[in-house]
Parts: sequence; C-alpha cells; structure tokens
Amino acid sequence: MSEPLRDAEVRQDLMVRLAEARARTDELIGLLRPDALYDRPIPERHRSIFYLGHFEAFDWNLVCRGAFGSEPFHDSFDQLFAFGIDPVGGDLPADTPSDWPSIPEIEEYNRTVRESVDECLRDFSLSAPSHPALEGGAIFHLAIEHRLMHAETFAYLLHQMPLSKKILQPGSPRPAVPSPAPCVVEIAAGSATLGLVRQESFDFGWDNEFDPQSVDVGAFRIDAQNVTNGDFLKFIGSGAYDDRALWTRPDWEWKTSQEITHPGFWLLQGEDWYWRTMFAEIPLPLDWPAYASHAEASAYAHWRGKALPTEAQFHRAAYGTHEGRERAYPWGDEAPGVCHGNFNFQLRDPTSVGAYPAGRSGFGLDDLVGNGWEWTSTLFEPFSGFQVFPLYPRYSANFFDGKHYVAKGGSPFTAACMLRRSFRNWFQPHYPFVYAAFRCVER
Ligand code: AVJ
Ligand code: FE
Repeated sequence: MSEPLRDAEVRQDLMVRLAEARARTDELIGLLRPDALYDRPIPERHRSIFYLGHFEAFDWNLVCRGAFGSEPFHDSFDQLFAFGIDPVGGDLPADTPSDWPSIPEIEEYNRTVRESVDECLRDFSLSAPSHPALEGGAIFHLAIEHRLMHAETFAYLLHQMPLSKKILQPGSPRPAVPSPAPCVVEIAAGSATLGLVRQESFDFGWDNEFDPQSVDVGAFRIDAQNVTNGDFLKFIGSGAYDDRALWTRPDWEWKTSQEITHPGFWLLQGEDWYWRTMFAEIPLPLDWPAYASHAEASAYAHWRGKALPTEAQFHRAAYGTHEGRERAYPWGDEAPGVCHGNFNFQLRDPTSVGAYPAGRSGFGLDDLVGNGWEWTSTLFEPFSGFQVFPLYPRYSANFFDGKHYVAKGGSPFTAACMLRRSFRNWFQPHYPFVYAAFRCVER
C-alpha cells in the first residue's frame, strides 16, 4: 500500500536532510589529519576521536534503540560515545589516546548504524507512529539537528588545532560591501514572542523552545552593528583587562587565573595583532565582529557604560517591526538564503559587519542572524511549561544551573534549520572557543 503523498514528502525530506548532514560532518572530520583525531584541542571537550563515534552512537541510542527498540550490536561503543559535554569544565575523565578504539573499528560501527537508521527511516509509519517520538518524524529531526550542531562544535574544535594538523583549504571569498557607519537604533516598547508557537503542521523544536512566551519589552537603544575587532582593540588599549571594576568577580577570577589578555581568536606577534582563521593567521581584520567569551563581552559593555541585550530585547530588535508584527527572520518571513547572512557553512570565516544589507531587520539592525552568535545577558533557564523530551532528558535540563547564558542568531557554521526564531543556544561565560559576537544596549 502506498502512503499518502504528504507523508512520502516528509520521509523524502528527512532522508535528504540526513544524508546532507552526514556529508557535512564527514567533510569536517576529513579536514583533520587522521592521527590528529586523538588530540584534545579543548580541555572541556573530549578528544576529536570521540566525535567520530558520537554522531552515530547518538543516532543509534535515540533512534534505533530508543524509538524503535532495536537490540544493541555493540553495547560498549553505544556507551563510550553516548554523551560528550559536561555542564561546566572538568567532569570529563582523564584519558590517554590509547583508551580510545581505532579509527577502522569506529568506522565499521558507523557503517552498521547508518544502515540501521536508514532502515528505520524508510520503514516507519508516519500516519500511525509506533512511538510518540516518531510523531511527525520528530526523532529524525532531532538526530539531524544534533548532528548539524556538532558540525559547528567540530568546526570550532578544528579551529583550535595547529595548522600543521589540518588539510589546509583556501580562504573564503567574501562579499565586498563597505561596513556601514556604526549607529544606535531606538526601539519602541512592544511585545516579543519567545519560544516556538506550534503551527497546524508539525514543527520541530527542542525541549527548551517550549512553551511560547509573550514578553513585554520596554523601549531601549541598541547598536545596529556588532562590536568589531577595531572597537575591541580600543577596549584592550584602555587597560580594561587590568581594570577590576569592569569585571564581575567570577569573570575576573577566570581571566586572572587563566591569564587571559585578549580574545581567544587573537594572537599577538611582536607588536602586531593577528586573527586565527580556520586555515591561516591574518592581520587582525578591524571590521570583523569581535568574537569573545561572555565574560569579555560583558566587560566591554560595562566599559562603554552599556549592557548586553536580554534575550527578549534581542527578539524585539531582531524580529519586531514598526507595524508591531513579528516576523520569522530579521529580514522577513522568507527562508534563509545566501543573500541574508553569513551562515549555513557558506564561508569559513566571518565577514565584515553589515555585509548583508538584504538581511537587515525591520528596525535596521545588521547581522542578527549569522556571522557569529550573539551574547545575551539572560541566563539559560526553562520557559514556563518546559518539559524534558523523554528520549533525551539531559539535553537542556543539565544546563539550567545558573552558569550558562543564552546566545541567539547563528554563526558561519550554523545550519539553516537552526536559524529559526525560537532556537536557543547556550554556553558558559568562560569558554573562549565559540563563534560568538555581541552588541550593546544602553542602560
Ligand atoms: C546546544 C550547542 C550548547 O554542543 O554544547 C550536542 C549541543 N548537546 N550534543 C553543545 C549538544 C549534546 C550543545 N549546545
Ligand atoms: Fe552531542
């Protein structure tokens, strides 16, 4: 019996997206020289080899075992590669490269998992799902987004590796649009809808996107552009890294104990500043957004007598309009396209700020989505009505610890599907490795 046309389309779409996501992670892993997979570029994260097994183990554990009840064929790998992040620093076991299996063993496991997942996807019933997690194909959406999220994780891990360990690629061509003069925009009081509003058809969202919340936001003034490296250089030049008054106590302690004197992507050679792109070290591009930890971004805002926007202010600035209507993306309701911003793996580096006029928001702000996540001053907390997704109870709940901040928008390495308005990212404030930029609001 053939299935309804609509179900066949959903299945086909999931198959294509899963194949694309796999190609994406395969490609990124292929940029690292194989022996370097056993290195650990970021102390808070596992060795890169973990990720080679993690993408598939995750799919096996949640899709095949969780939603379809499949019998394990490699229990020890299912567990070894199950989960990789710790809430804040230090919980990962001390290990040595020889604690990890060989690449061929993992690749063999991966092949078997991919076949099993494909079989599940081909055969499950959309009209009469055998498990609640299969409604609308939810578990497959989740697996695809999880993998694409890790494409970004893997990219910033790869970014930290010495150039000698990578298969070098040419730099990205970039749009030649002069940066607009920096300006501040006044946003009138209005309401912002955070979270995912369910439409009639199935819309996938992670547990932390529910329930939708309507928030009243008072009038505020916000930078139309991200703070640039040039701006940040002035902050450094003012002696801000030695000015105790600009930093919160935990941020100061982190900065001091880690001897942080500049953002993680920067490099001082003699008197000159350089920026480490994925495949080169280039003179500091002054008109690129300043990627910085939350601690450094907060200190910068403080130095300017300003603050980081709240999550609700970000929403209001990004999706609000003068007419009071809220839109799906800063530029409108059109799906993200190449003209709208620097995201979805088009380029491997940031562009100068304001290089995508077609992506400008209703209130005239640039780069809200793409070219770097945007820090907010909002702690990552559940919305009211939050419920864990039973097959993955630890996805968000582990991080409601008062130690993580919400980041919005997206970076060059954020897949288009996660640019939706309700998507919430989060990181701890002392983690200098992520592609996160910021802008300020007046207090
Ligand atoms: C949502 C990006 C913060 O990688 O730390 C991947 C996503 N969780 N596997 C992370 C995640 C489990 C998470 N972030
Ligand atoms: Fe993961």
